[in-house]
Amino acid sequence: MSSTTTAILHSALLDPRETLYLKKGGELGDPGDTSLLGVIPPTAPGNFGSKAFRKEFSLRYAYVGGSMVGGISSVDMVAALADMAVLGMFGASGLPPSAVEDAVVKLQSLLGGRTFGSCLIHSPQDPSWEEEVVDIYLRRGVNLVEASAFMQMTPSLVRYRLHGLKELPDGTIVAPNRIMAKVSRLELARRFFSPPPPKLVQEALDRGWITDQEASLAPLTPMAQDLTAEADSGGHTDFRPALTLWPSMLKLADECTRKFGYRQALRVGAAGGLGAPAAVLAAHDMGLAYFVTGSVNQSCLESGLSAEARALLAKAGQADVSQAPAADMFELGAKVQVLKYGTLFAPRALKLAELHRRHDRLEDLPEEEVQFLEDKIFRRSLAQVWTETREFFQRRDPPTLAKAEADPKLKMALVFRWYLGQAARWAINGVEERRSDWCIFCGPSLGAFNEWAAGTYYADPANRRVADVAALLLYGAAVLKRVAHARDFGVSPGDLPVSVPPLPPEELSRYV
Ligand SMILES: Cc1cc2nc3c(=O)[nH]c(=O)nc-3n(C[C@H](O)[C@H](O)[C@H](O)COP(=O)(O)O)c2cc1C
Repeated sequence: MSSTTTAILHSALLDPRETLYLKKGGELGDPGDTSLLGVIPPTAPGNFGSKAFRKEFSLRYAYVGGSMVGGISSVDMVAALADMAVLGMFGASGLPPSAVEDAVVKLQSLLGGRTFGSCLIHSPQDPSWEEEVVDIYLRRGVNLVEASAFMQMTPSLVRYRLHGLKELPDGTIVAPNRIMAKVSRLELARRFFSPPPPKLVQEALDRGWITDQEASLAPLTPMAQDLTAEADSGGHTDFRPALTLWPSMLKLADECTRKFGYRQALRVGAAGGLGAPAAVLAAHDMGLAYFVTGSVNQSCLESGLSAEARALLAKAGQADVSQAPAADMFELGAKVQVLKYGTLFAPRALKLAELHRRHDRLEDLPEEEVQFLEDKIFRRSLAQVWTETREFFQRRDPPTLAKAEADPKLKMALVFRWYLGQAARWAINGVEERRSDWCIFCGPSLGAFNEWAAGTYYADPANRRVADVAALLLYGAAVLKRVAHARDFGVSPGDLPVSVPPLPPEELSRYV
């Protein structure tokens, strides 16, 4: 193909609004040509994912900015996404219930009826949090939650889902409270795709949380209509490969829709690894209903993370992430994925997990280990850490404190969790003298975005706006879909673009 023909083809592919009539040799023709290789239709980014999903939540794009703990997915981030009619999830986990309520009130006044959601995280360490936050969501009319870290259905979750359930005259069941479940395992997905367990429905009825009518409709209602299948991601993760996880989840959704006779097909969304357009296209082509991002949004301007930590994120590559123990499920051995570039958090946290595994009490730790912990990790004596931890639990969770006073292994876990919790706050607040301890949740998708954006407008984190990133990923996926058509029609891959330029906002706005 001549260089002029290649240049014309490339520029036509980059405009997804155009229909392309492709002739032999990669030249562009018109509808009347007799020797057409094929026709590439317009590919609107707004058509990606499920139409039913977009309709249900009144969205322009089937794209979700996932929750990020401690308000990292901030009020500003959710509002910026809503401005583009994209769904944002407020990062309620890790915040006191009163802060969650303040954020909800603010979002409702800013968004005036446009859709947003908020996180509802399972908190085995602090069950009262889950109950208090469900109270707030019901009282304030928050009708969409992103439910994460649930191992089984809980009374609060069932209460939320069943509240307000009603049947229309045509037999359609309307559930005003929507749960978008986030899971990585099939057995958990099955629980969310099933109706609520009868035992918990009875409990909700007995506690006066739901009416007889709501209880009677429960067997016809899945706990979650939408389920995000989370592959290898930032934060809590099972490190599942997307290519194996997503097809199995789609099959399960289909099976459960039939088994329970639901009128509306269950939907599966994609999360984990979506940092470049090709990944979004792969998810769309596999049949995923919507696309959830997290890590890349954390590096954006609207993120609640400090500017200094965002600057670190913007430099990371795919391999600059590592496993670390999760603060909230430390004793269970749960893992999170964090940034390892520019911080020593991961090896330090892993050391704490290892010491906790090998020893039963703080008093059993070898002297040199205590020295190392006090000098390098805590920068204070273990006794001091325990005093602070005790004060915290006295205020927040006296029953756990009582247990820890009687159980030295739990006491050691609480002391070690002090570091894991503080390290995340030091990163959020950009505490300079604790830079080497910053805990920044992050998955390889961020590196994929950075690698794609290297040397462009978006390399600078000051230029990353969460809505532009969303539009850019979807636009890029639309262009790559056209490239795939051209390849299928026989154009040599060497004559086609392999990547899409990350267009700056003013150019991007022409196409999306
Ligand atoms: C900093 C950070 C914090 C997160 N916190 C939460 C959370 O509180 N609740 C939740 O459901 N998911 C949380 N996630 C997961 C994201 O919502 C999203 O599902 C995930 O990041 C998508 O994968 P990615 O990291 O490859 O983009 C978090 C992710 C990150 C990066």
